[in-house]
Amino acid sequence: MKHIVTIVGARPQFIKAAVLSRLIRSEEWKNKFCETLIHTGQHYDANMSEIFFTDMKIPKPDIHLNIGGGTHGEMTGRMLIQIEKELIHLKPDLVVVYGDTNSTLAGALAASKLHIPVAHIEAGLRSFYKLMPEEQNRILTDHLSTWLFCPTEVAVKNLANEGINQGVHIVGDIMLDASLFYRQILQTEKVKGNFRLNNLNGHTSEILKGSYSLATVHRAENTDNPEKLANIISAFNDLGTNIILPLHPRTRKKILELDLKFNSNVSIIDPVGYLEMLEMEINCNCIITDSGGIQKEAYFLQKPCITLREQTEWVETVESGWNELVGSDANKIAFAFENFIVPQKQLPFYGRGEAGQLILKIIAK
Ligand code: UD1
Ligand code: UDP
Repeated sequence: MKHIVTIVGARPQFIKAAVLSRLIRSEEWKNKFCETLIHTGQHYDANMSEIFFTDMKIPKPDIHLNIGGGTHGEMTGRMLIQIEKELIHLKPDLVVVYGDTNSTLAGALAASKLHIPVAHIEAGLRSFYKLMPEEQNRILTDHLSTWLFCPTEVAVKNLANEGINQGVHIVGDIMLDASLFYRQILQTEKVKGNFRLNNLNGHTSEILKGSYSLATVHRAENTDNPEKLANIISAFNDLGTNIILPLHPRTRKKILELDLKFNSNVSIIDPVGYLEMLEMEINCNCIITDSGGIQKEAYFLQKPCITLREQTEWVETVESGWNELVGSDANKIAFAFENFIVPQKQLPFYGRGEAGQLILKIIAK
């Protein structure tokens, strides 16, 4: 029996961990692996954390470190200290980390300094924009990892370009596993389609299936630049369509600070759980986002995606015509929205939704 310690902390990691944690406890794998789940506490509001554990039936974390907020250095440093203590006590055979957050880097660094092998899921992604905190976290985590589970061919090439060839496996994207699995659950629970939203603007609105775009904004390069954030919101206000905007707490703070106002076409709501998000994605006509995960979910669901960034790690979505990079320029956002030509076909760049199984098979060997 191999003991895996999984380290999560931020919203997208709960979604990725949901897949592997379920498989580890399945009949097929439960005699080969056991898991201790450590939650760093990076995300702590109920609608940024607990809701995912409940909705997606993720096992409750065994250890909660309660380390959220603060500067990036401070947060990562405090996580490193606490994770190291837990790993010394737990002595696992393997540490699993996901993606590119501060929790990812702290977990990988703590484990590798104790000579515990690290498996990095979603390895090899690069935006080639080194000021992006996630880019720093990815590069460092990849260089510390023993197993590098890549979602795409491009990710494998990126690693090869940095001299990483050992332990690299292409397994597809674990977020596709999640999207397919929870779509089935939604179907059995019957998708509603229309949303009655408690709009944080102060009114309640009814938004009909197919009559809205779904937007999210949380990337530091947008939220921490007042001009960019104001441009994005002004573009939303003038887009001539209903927009549902589940607002990340980071963005909400900045909007309040800057006193930015929304027109009534924009329904601002609290962050939602994964199932509700999936339902909103399924029923929208366009996705406008700066999220990494949501760009891919748009692709999985064959929705046009407009990305509020200058570069992306998910280059396949752009090259195939399903995603357009517009940055924070209001005119470009409007132009992309009005002129998006939806491609006729899709290629399986992200695998077949079997990443979780492939990862466990490789580790078991
Ligand atoms: C983090 C990740 C980012 C990921 C995102 C997912 C890093 C460097 N960034 O960004 O890669 O895309 O999570 O959503 O790790 N806050 C709350 N409540 C919460 C969580 C955050 O109020 O539950 C507020 C706090 O003011 C906090 C700020 O949001 O300081 C930023 O949170 P943080 O975890 O530092 O970064 P994210 O922007 O969430
Ligand atoms: N998501 C969610 N509720 C929301 C916003 C996002 O469940 O209110 C999900 C989304 O569907 C995707 C993941 O969170 O699966 C993406 O996380 P986020 O955008 O926070 O981070 P990123 O992927 O950019 O790192």
